[in-house]
Amino acid sequence: MKTKLTQKIFEPLIEKKLDESKQGLAYEDNTNPNSSIKKAYIETYGCQMNFSDTEIIASVLKDLGYSFTTNVLESDLALINTCSIRENAEEKVWHKLKELKGIKKKNPGLLVGVLGCMAERLKSKLLEQEQLVDLVVGPDAYRDLPRLIESAESGMKSINVLLSREETYADISPIRLNTNGVSAFISIMRGCNNMCTFCIVPFTRGRERSRDYHSIVKEAQELYHNGYREVTLLGQNVDSYHYEDCNFAQLLEKVALISPDLRVRFSTSHPKDITDEVLYTIKKYENICKYIHLPAQSGNSAILEKMNRGYTREWYMQKIERIRQILPDCAISTDIIVGFCGETEEQFQDTVSLMQWAKFDYAYMFFYSERPGTPAAKKFKDDIPEEEKKRRLQKIIAIQNQNSYNSNLRDLNQTFKILIEGNSKKSDLDFCGRNDQNKMVIFRKKPGLKPGDYVNVKVHQVTSATLIGEII
Ligand code: 5AD
Ligand code: SF4
Repeated sequence: MKTKLTQKIFEPLIEKKLDESKQGLAYEDNTNPNSSIKKAYIETYGCQMNFSDTEIIASVLKDLGYSFTTNVLESDLALINTCSIRENAEEKVWHKLKELKGIKKKNPGLLVGVLGCMAERLKSKLLEQEQLVDLVVGPDAYRDLPRLIESAESGMKSINVLLSREETYADISPIRLNTNGVSAFISIMRGCNNMCTFCIVPFTRGRERSRDYHSIVKEAQELYHNGYREVTLLGQNVDSYHYEDCNFAQLLEKVALISPDLRVRFSTSHPKDITDEVLYTIKKYENICKYIHLPAQSGNSAILEKMNRGYTREWYMQKIERIRQILPDCAISTDIIVGFCGETEEQFQDTVSLMQWAKFDYAYMFFYSERPGTPAAKKFKDDIPEEEKKRRLQKIIAIQNQNSYNSNLRDLNQTFKILIEGNSKKSDLDFCGRNDQNKMVIFRKKPGLKPGDYVNVKVHQVTSATLIGEII
């Protein structure tokens, strides 16, 4: 579970983070030429993959003639795309459903749907537990929405939580609502086969499958032609991407070749699978961003074994060394879980020392949250008291704050190529954008520049979260 403190400190990154619970966003788009009177409200929780799925869902709804609203009070259909990764992610959704209950009392015609990971995890229990829910739709069933909505409209509760071995939604063009028009996500694969013992994802998103690379490249080309300048290739474990004769390194290359002005990012890499070929491909293309998210989860080999991560502390350290050897300017971030079943103080100290050694540029830190049905929930006892989990979490947050600040300090007086994303949150006089290493940079605007343009910015001030500079 993430504390308020981390949320604040890592806010700029969390916006783009995979598997991160966050307050949902609603979509507004009144441009649908097929527009009927029907209006849909969609709220998304969780990871980048879920936000990407919402763009597929919006596309299916648009074909049905729906337009979109950010005001649930004026909607006919309210869909919540949900996350199950930690207990608090689900709590947020329960809270939202309570809110919808009140709205439905006033507007009994409103159809309410629960989509995504919680739908898959809880299945018909959702219909039983929350009488207001009309539709339950798992992550592989979005094509079935027209039938499910129709049947819900006729008063039947409808559910489809079948997982598929093939579905990648390759032929559905996502509707990019609520974007900055500069950066977009492209889902390159779905599901996960890794079975990390703590993780619910393999159960909610099913088996791993890769999407046809032709459709990925086409989607990236279209985005580029529509003015986008950054794509993030998304998968639970991008290094195991494989479609026909194309592996992940080759896919990266194909997307990078679209234009040197199109930045390519990707997430998430797995320490056991990331290859030298991927690292050399990143090195070869200036537009493949020098930033790798490489979740460690723990710094102790016995805990890693219990987590079924498929590597040891030493293997992980060698991977970090390899990245720094091939890509000296590469930023590295990580995910850490503290308080996993049976984690002793000594084992926790191994995580502390790994973080001190690796000096990650960023980290997403959580305490273990048992998920029903996972291998860890079946095999091990969730025996670290919550207070102790929180103490450990605070300890690593403090270490990471220092690491992030030191990492940013190294950027003082350096000049970076920044892709302008839009106005800074604090002032319309300033732009914000990211450097290659994914660090958010704030700088004063200059006439003639707009989001999507590249500028060189020299950094003259840093905090642990942001770089502040000026255009040179
Ligand atoms: N408890 C806490 N954190 C978890 N994560 C995944 N499952 C759990 C869990 N049960 C974290 C991992 C993963 C990130 C997306 O979420 O660190 O990399
Ligand atoms: Fe979960 Fe592990 Fe797959 Fe990531 S790699 S989604 S942590 S099972």
